[in-house]
Amino acid sequence: MDYKFLVDEAIKAKVNAVAVYSNFHVGAALLTDKNKIYSGCNIESSSYSLTICAERTAIFKAVSEGQRNFKAIAISGDTEDFISPCGACRQVISDLCGNIDIVMINSRGEYVIKKTSELLPFAFGDKDLR
Ligand code: THU
Repeated sequence: MDYKFLVDEAIKAKVNAVAVYSNFHVGAALLTDKNKIYSGCNIESSSYSLTICAERTAIFKAVSEGQRNFKAIAISGDTEDFISPCGACRQVISDLCGNIDIVMINSRGEYVIKKTSELLPFAFGDKDLR
């Protein structure tokens, strides 16, 4: 799958990152089933645990605007290796986006694609709460 268009948006989203404590800038771009893109960046707080990751910013923006169906999320950092979403974001992706394509980008703009189920096997979810 060619996700270059989504990769470019994730890289662009990184410029708005508020990463004054970690200096680790992350951008994300979330693709809806209707091909609309919601971008997000990480936003850090002086009370560190209140920080939100780029992926969750993008997802919460989209869901708060009524979007519920997604195809893919691209994530960009300035890492030599393909950036991988944290555990908390994997849970939120699983809960709100389902088994989508997770597009992980490296500092050269190259990317690899994995499914949510590959990054979070045996996931906890709404089925467990019934
Ligand atoms: N971060 C993200 O935005 N996404 C990830 O998947 C990994 C971590 C952010 C959180 C924090 O602002 C900084 O990167 C360092 O952990």
